[in-house]
Amino acid sequence: DKGGWPSFMAKEVSEEPEAVANTLRGRIHDGVVSIPELDGLDDLFRGIDRIIVIACGTAAYAGMVGKYALEQWTRLPVDVELAHEFRYRDPVIGPSTLVVSISQSGETMDTLMAVKFAREAGAKTLSICNTQGATIPRESDAIVYTHAGPEVAVASTKAFVAQITALYLLALHVGRLRGAVSASAVEELARELEAVPSKITWILENDRARIEEFAAWMADTRSVLFLGRHVGYPIALEGALKLKEITYIHAEGFAAGELKHGPIALIEPGQPVFVIVPSPRASALLHAKVVSNIQEIRARGARVIAVAEEGDAAVLPFADEVLRIPLAGPLFEPLLAVVPLHIFAMGLAGAKGLDVDQPRNLAKSVTVE
Ligand code: M6R
Repeated sequence: DKGGWPSFMAKEVSEEPEAVANTLRGRIHDGVVSIPELDGLDDLFRGIDRIIVIACGTAAYAGMVGKYALEQWTRLPVDVELAHEFRYRDPVIGPSTLVVSISQSGETMDTLMAVKFAREAGAKTLSICNTQGATIPRESDAIVYTHAGPEVAVASTKAFVAQITALYLLALHVGRLRGAVSASAVEELARELEAVPSKITWILENDRARIEEFAAWMADTRSVLFLGRHVGYPIALEGALKLKEITYIHAEGFAAGELKHGPIALIEPGQPVFVIVPSPRASALLHAKVVSNIQEIRARGARVIAVAEEGDAAVLPFADEVLRIPLAGPLFEPLLAVVPLHIFAMGLAGAKGLDVDQPRNLAKSVTVE
């Protein structure tokens, strides 16, 4: 049931606020984060010295965002790997490694095989999954469910924000247990997390129509680039993946710092480039670097679409279009910045008359390797 929306994807994007809120439910009490499903596993989390996150596609981008939070709040080293690459080498893992898999369906064969491989190598495994009782959680030592509700559209949207939310909860749970983050910091971060759903709602209510209109206007575009830095980098990758999946337009995401190392050669007059701009309040340095990237590409004729926080005036002179997101702490921005990109991809596919729910050549759940 599309609930009155033209597509499942449209419905699921509109459910992004609930996907976050439902994933938080029952896991934060008066500023204390605790995940009931992980009761009894304190020794497991105290005994690890390293985390490896494995997933595919959009779930892997959620993992890349989660890495920042996991490292910051647990002080454990974290690597993120594509599940299908992980088991075809000889990774250094053992009983003190926690392998966190992320999968909406819980049936992705590449991810499942990597989890099995990790288990056989003696690692501890934890599954972040949106589907109760699916194969991957059944094969894992621990489970943290995301509560995004069923996701029908091939393009993953609400599951992505729920996956990041679950990773943040996990990071706070483990970080607190290991004494790596203070109770007062957790309290503040939990408050930030709880504020995310209403901020996503703000974007959906205030900007959805405008972004869709803008996307329709870009329907003839042949190639779109996405740039981001820090947590904005995986968001750039996600923006590009969503666009290629459902509009069949060539799209690529880059780390903004890589520009000079190659991708800037692609910039020619009229080339649309989305830039995820980090908050100047969080890091003036990072912000200045991204603004200078914008100037560099603008000077070569790029059409710049900035995804920037409310009130960031520094981008105005160089951006052709600004998609605004509400103010949030630096690690919470990805949960907001991705929303305009989801709306944009969907709006553009709609304008091209494409079936956004069933893009060509793709299956919702990839159960073969
Ligand atoms: O069910 P999973 O989360 O394991 O699926 C992983 C990817 O196949 C999936 O995220 C895919 O990249 C989506 N179609 C992206 O929109």
